[in-house]
Amino acid sequence: MITKEGKEKLLEWDRLHVNHPFYPFGQKLRGVLFEEGKGAKLWDTEGKEYIDFSSHLTCVNLGYGQSELVTACTEQMQKLPYSTTFWGYSHRPVIECSMKLAELTPKGLDHFVFTGGGSEAVEVAFLVARRYWNNKGRGKYKIISLYNGYHGVSFGAISATATARGVLHQGITPLVPGIIQVPSYNCYRCMLGKEYPQCDIQCAKYLAEVIKWESPDTVAAVIFEPCMGAGGFICPPPEYWPRVREICTEYDVLLISDEIGTGFCRTGKMFGMDHWNVIPDLMTLAKGITSAYFPVGAVAISDKVWDGFEGSALPGEYTYSGHPVGCAIAVKAMEIYVRDKIAEHVRKVSKHMYERLNAEFLPLPCVDNVSGLGFFGGIEIVADKATKRMFEPTLNVIGHIQSEMLEKGIYIRINSGLFTQGDRVPFAPPLVITQEEIDKGLDILYPILASIKPD
Ligand SMILES: Cc1ncc(COP(=O)(O)O)c(C=O)c1O
Repeated sequence: MITKEGKEKLLEWDRLHVNHPFYPFGQKLRGVLFEEGKGAKLWDTEGKEYIDFSSHLTCVNLGYGQSELVTACTEQMQKLPYSTTFWGYSHRPVIECSMKLAELTPKGLDHFVFTGGGSEAVEVAFLVARRYWNNKGRGKYKIISLYNGYHGVSFGAISATATARGVLHQGITPLVPGIIQVPSYNCYRCMLGKEYPQCDIQCAKYLAEVIKWESPDTVAAVIFEPCMGAGGFICPPPEYWPRVREICTEYDVLLISDEIGTGFCRTGKMFGMDHWNVIPDLMTLAKGITSAYFPVGAVAISDKVWDGFEGSALPGEYTYSGHPVGCAIAVKAMEIYVRDKIAEHVRKVSKHMYERLNAEFLPLPCVDNVSGLGFFGGIEIVADKATKRMFEPTLNVIGHIQSEMLEKGIYIRINSGLFTQGDRVPFAPPLVITQEEIDKGLDILYPILASIKPD
């Protein structure tokens, strides 16, 4: 606990000296300093309690204060805090981490490159994809991502990131050449103006057309999120992923599934793609791999791609690749996901959440499109359901919902229609959240949404 004055001093320094991503520099900060956490709960410096409905940036999958992860961390720190994997050196935690991952990843995807986070993993996936085709003597270099998809902010990753209606690309162009976008799979706001299911998933057909017209001889890979996170916590229709897999196979294009947000039980299965039984060629992982207790990312690589590097090293290694402390924590986190049947818990508690959202919230005038899988879901906030019209951005209705929730002790993330296709309230709490905590958060959200009148 700190005094009010002490807190104000910290916040003033913070405002002027610390960058806050996606927040205008110098603007008054939100005034909350989180200090402690346990399970799905957080406390700030004044002792106020919050339920975290977003696991911060959708990463603290096993919740706060998980003592086994802390023990794994401290034991490894004491034993060997750092060791490189460069030049053929190795250590036990990185080997054990890759063995544990191989038990969970789809069959055949059991070769790994480790990184220090999500963007780095995406970067490595791009390097691997391009070099793979180069090794085969084929000049395939283009990468296709989705409008409204998010893959991080390092240069390759931000070139594939196409949320924020171009805002993220302002002032940093030219981007990495050869990275192009196709319309996303948000059926509620179809970019092609179609209606599901009569559309016969035109968005997937469009992908095939783009590959054909760009020429399959130039397209190296497709990178999509199994369900879009920053783009609004939106999942595709059931036929989408199997069709995308077929298209990639038909045109000899590598399929990269960006599981950084959806991995490690978040959607109620170990990985997002497990819902469709689709096996990609590469998978990018981060966040839940350590439940965010340490920055670790990884790329899972199929036998086919790995074999394309016979006799040479894969590109993309960092000082902190295979960091022993991160790997030791990841091993423990993966043990817990399986041992504590976390995916089962997510399916059970999120089912209750969706039942309530559909029965109680959907009838509200401003709530539409309840959707998602497990704790990777959301609702759309609209001014007019019949036309799906968004609230006038200057009213900042979505920001108002977030502030009211924070005031009442529920920490939520929002997707603003200024940057994505619509205003959305996502539900992505730590996966260990209880049904009682979900109910408490929803009970607080309901009157806030019920008080919003169409503009
Ligand atoms: C799907 C996806 N890919 C990549 C990233 C980038 O990861 P990081 O922020 O760890 O660099 C994120 C982060 O939110 C993500 O959700």
